[in-house]
Amino acid sequence: MNQEFPENFLWGCATSAFQVEGAYNEDGKGLSLADVRSMSVDPTEEPTKALANVGDEIADSKIASDHYHSWEEDVELMKELGLKSYRFSIAWTRIYPNGDDEQINEKGLAFYDKLIDRLNKYGIEPVVTIYHFDFPCGIQKKYGGWRNKQSIEDFNRYACTLFEHFKGRVRYWLVNNEQNAMIRRDSYLGIEEKDILKRERLRHLCNHNMYVACAKAIASCHQIDPEAKIAPVMAYSPTYPKDSKPENILAAKKSEDLYRNYMIDVHCRGEYPAYYLRWLRDNGWDFPISDEEHEILKAGKPDFYAFNYYRSSCAEYCPEDVSPELVERYRVDAKRRMLPGICRHIDNPNIEPFPMNQWRLDPIGLRVAFRNIYERCHLPLMLCENGLGVPDILTNDFKIHDDYRIDYLKSHIIAMKEAVKDGIPVIGYHVWTFMDVISTSEGFKKRYGLVYVNRDEKGGDLNRYKKDSFNWYREVIKENGRNL
Ligand code: BG6
Repeated sequence: MNQEFPENFLWGCATSAFQVEGAYNEDGKGLSLADVRSMSVDPTEEPTKALANVGDEIADSKIASDHYHSWEEDVELMKELGLKSYRFSIAWTRIYPNGDDEQINEKGLAFYDKLIDRLNKYGIEPVVTIYHFDFPCGIQKKYGGWRNKQSIEDFNRYACTLFEHFKGRVRYWLVNNEQNAMIRRDSYLGIEEKDILKRERLRHLCNHNMYVACAKAIASCHQIDPEAKIAPVMAYSPTYPKDSKPENILAAKKSEDLYRNYMIDVHCRGEYPAYYLRWLRDNGWDFPISDEEHEILKAGKPDFYAFNYYRSSCAEYCPEDVSPELVERYRVDAKRRMLPGICRHIDNPNIEPFPMNQWRLDPIGLRVAFRNIYERCHLPLMLCENGLGVPDILTNDFKIHDDYRIDYLKSHIIAMKEAVKDGIPVIGYHVWTFMDVISTSEGFKKRYGLVYVNRDEKGGDLNRYKKDSFNWYREVIKENGRNL
């Protein structure tokens, strides 16, 4: 068995439309929930009301990293880096400004035409996410977004437009980004209900409709462009038990099952596992699934499986009588969330927090992730995001000495190499991010890029500077990982 990365391995970098493009209302683009959310005061809890905040002095998607205007310079840098693939997302609202317009917005399509053609010209594989947190505000207001079955049809129509238009030019599609993270956050779903039971019912209905939309889009892709490969992208962090007490082992297992494993089953086997349906029923969150939906789920199977990994998590048993206020307080916090009688997430007592951002870094967790996911889906795997978000310092001579980022990436790529040696068919790796982008949680206060974008929360000249990690990754790509 080959112990090295395959010669056609996709060494890549990633971004997403609303985090990098800017030009949030140019050339006919409509607003998305991600635009509205990133412009809001409290990014986790203040959803659609924030339209009035356009213009506030915070880092938002109005300008972001200005990639919409600087794409040519950015792609030149990608070429210099030697990228084999670039993962980015198309903004639904550039193609259909309201989500369901009769006419395609040709100017929006033209932007991605230019970008995709240039990438292909340079031999950089475009890996395109169809939907990365940015649901159109138009159809959100019109019919309530994902809670309404019409969203499945509108998403499929948008996806088909892309498959037809980019047929033969895009060979890797990613249906949606981190559905499991998206459904945690009301602002990404446009949920404003205060009643907790109603709110949670809606959340699970939105989740289901997104699965149906995903499967439908996969089947459409297979029909329109049988040569293309398509997969969803999941947020994945293995959950370790706090210790070897049986109740904590079961708690960690249940956390993995309810937040991640069931998802692989829905995507790859086209059915919800019985424990998941029981959990919904026990809580009064269940929804009807029609025969037609069962068939759609069965018919739309991915060609590979994609995931994002940053760090691992840890869980212990959570008593039934934990206070509802605590459950509510931590419900969107993946590091603290709890399910009474099932599990609660805690800091791993065996991993020290990384001083720059308090993350519990865990490269071994990535190897565990590859094994867990592969054992469940038996499909080729693509890692679509991996990176370190911290503040960087631009020196007076315009350098960024980010050895901490190099250490992070190196240790994770070495872990991935071990997964390859374990015999797992890994087809690609993407550093999050190519250039600095607005973080979904902290604007420009923290950065992930290999390229520094000279702006802060309030703005800047947007000049690009290569960080030390850029030069380091270039060597990794050139050597196809043999130097690690
Ligand atoms: C992933 C998302 O969950 O994490 C990205 O796909 C996001 O869009 C990334 O930017 C890092 O999270 P954050 O909150 O630091 O931007």
